Amino acid sequence: MLTHAFTYIQAHMITIGMVQQKGGVGKTVIATNLATSFQKRGYEVALVDADPQGSARDWAAKAENPPMTVGVDRPVVHKQLPKLKGFDIAIVDGPGKLERMTVSIIKASDLCLIPVQPAAIDLWAVGTVIDHIQTRQDLTEGRPQARFVISRAITGSTLTGSIEEVLDEAPFGRLSAGTYQRVAYTRAVGNGEGVVSGNDSKAAAEINAITDELESILKLKTHA
Ligand SMILES: Nc1ncnc2c1ncn2[C@@H]1O[C@H](COP(=O)(O)OP(=O)(O)OP(=O)(O)O)[C@@H](O)[C@H]1O
Ligand SMILES: [Mg+2]
Repeated sequence: MLTHAFTYIQAHMITIGMVQQKGGVGKTVIATNLATSFQKRGYEVALVDADPQGSARDWAAKAENPPMTVGVDRPVVHKQLPKLKGFDIAIVDGPGKLERMTVSIIKASDLCLIPVQPAAIDLWAVGTVIDHIQTRQDLTEGRPQARFVISRAITGSTLTGSIEEVLDEAPFGRLSAGTYQRVAYTRAVGNGEGVVSGNDSKAAAEINAITDELESILKLKTHA
């Protein structure tokens, strides 16, 4: 167990759910890297692998000091998560298609992160997930919050700018930080590592910037 670097005032665990009905958009890469980065900052982190493919579990099996990782293979994340005690943050990695599991993750989350690659085909895929989140928000007076996060942007491509413009018309905001296409991510996810501890400083800065934004949106960090 890591020692807490800070004292937190949140009384309950904060849950961040990765949701996107499209496969291969970077959910697992962002989930595992956020888990490592929050852990490095002193939070007690639970990583919940709600994708039957089990990629987050495979990652944890290779990791030296992984966060506590559990697999949930049925759409009961919203029922199981409240039973987890002693954690500051749960990060839920979701499946790459829309199914009851996605709805369960939305119900369980304080914040849904929707990774979007800078391509029109990815944008077309987000409509249904947006509908599901909004339907839930209507029932709960706004929970979960939701943000898009640009994933695998290509340096120098104008596509990212046009996608950002489209996303800014959507009902949820977009994180200003995101990931660029970098070998460091593929390597880290395959080796059970997080880029915040690796030697690609640009990748580390991207994940740290996403973590900073999440700390601010979720009002997480409170110095003792
Ligand atoms: N920023 C990045 N730079 C380079 N490669 C990346 C990046 N993000 C993801 N990838 C690679 O893209 C592929 C898909 O990423 P990932 O597995 O995270 O997507 P996913 O949304 O979890 O997919 P699935 O829906 O199948 O679970 C992986 O091979 C991963 O290594
Ligand atoms: Mg995945």
